[in-house]
Amino acid sequence: MTQPLTIALSKGRILDDTLPLLAEAGIHPAEDIKKSRKLIFDTNHDHIKLVVIRATDVPTYVEYGAADLGVAGKDVLMEYNSDDLCEPLDLNIATCRLMTAALKDAEMPQGRLKVATKFVNVAKRYFAEQGRQVDIIKLYGGMELAPIMNLADMIVDIVDTGNTLKANGLEARDLIAPISSRLVAGRAAMKVKHAQIQPIIDQMAAAVERQR
Ligand code: ADP
Ligand code: PRP
Ligand code: MG
Repeated sequence: MTQPLTIALSKGRILDDTLPLLAEAGIHPAEDIKKSRKLIFDTNHDHIKLVVIRATDVPTYVEYGAADLGVAGKDVLMEYNSDDLCEPLDLNIATCRLMTAALKDAEMPQGRLKVATKFVNVAKRYFAEQGRQVDIIKLYGGMELAPIMNLADMIVDIVDTGNTLKANGLEARDLIAPISSRLVAGRAAMKVKHAQIQPIIDQMAAAVERQR
C-alpha cells in the first residue's frame, strides 16, 4: 500500500528553486502555490501533499514527523541542530555563506564581544570554539543595522553578493560555513517510508547533477 507522504517547503526565496527539482521527481502542485493563501497543497499524486511554511519551521515539522521530507537552508539546520534529522541530499540552491561581519575597519574590543544575530546557537558554538567571550543579542532580521546603531560589535549573518554589507558600511570578516539548501528527512520516516522516499531522493539528485 502507498503510504501518505508530506513534504515541507520553505516559503520565500528557496521556493522558486525547489519547485523545478520536485517537478523533475514527477511531483507537481495541483495549483499555483505562489498565487494561493493556502498552506497545504495537493499534488498530481493522491498520496503526496506539500506544506509551505516559514524556512525556520521546516526542521520542526520534519523532526516531529508531521512532515516526512523538507527543504531547508543549511544555516537553519545548523541553528536547529537536531540529531533526529538527516540530510540525504544537498540541493545546491540558495548558495551563500554564513559569516561574521563588522563595521568596515572597526577594531574589536579586547573584552567581551557583543554579537547580534538570528543564529544564536550557531554563534554561541562558533565563538566558544574560538575561545572568545561573547554576549549574544537575538534579532529577527536586518542584522546589518546593529553595528551602525552601536547595538553590537559584530553580526553573524548570511552573505551572498555582499551588497547588503556594503550598502551599510560593513565588511565580512570570517567564514563560519558555506551554505546551500538541503533535502531533510526525519530518521523515523527514512526507515518506515524508505521505499517511497528513496526514489524521490534519487530523482532529485539526478536533477541537481544536471543543473551543476
Ligand atoms: P527568511 O525569511 O527566514 O530569511 P529567506 O527566504 O530569506 O527566509 O531565506 C531562506 C534561506 O535561503 C536561508 O535559510 C538561507 O539558506 C538562504 N538565503 C538567505 N539569504 C540569502 C541570500 N541573500 N542569497 C542566497 N541565499 C540566501
Ligand atoms: C539576506 C541576509 C542578508 C542578505 C545578504 O537577507 O540576511 O541581509 O540577504 O545578501 P547579499 O549579500 O546578496 O546582500 P534577506 O533579504 O533575506 O532579509 P531578511 O532579513 O528578511 O532575511
Ligand atoms: Mg531572509
